[in-house]
Amino acid sequence: MYVCVCNAVTERTIRDLVAEGYHTLNEIQALTGCSGTCGRCHDHAEAVIEASLARPASPVIPVIDPSGTSLLLPRTA
Ligand code: FES
Repeated sequence: MYVCVCNAVTERTIRDLVAEGYHTLNEIQALTGCSGTCGRCHDHAEAVIEASLARPASPVIPVIDPSGTSLLLPRTA
């Protein structure tokens, strides 16, 4: 879902940037332009950043192999 229509910035882009260590709108704006044109997305962008910080992306993917053993595979993308 688009957060910033002016700059085509999606929630996923913001979540990925937060996971990479960019934790402020100023940092994300410098990289994407988010909130730097009309500014209508400012509050939504801040909310996505806060939600991403509250629930960081999992570094592993839980998988159950055919024998029923639970595995944690490293996330690659
Ligand atoms: S919608 Fe983000 S700057 Fe306009």
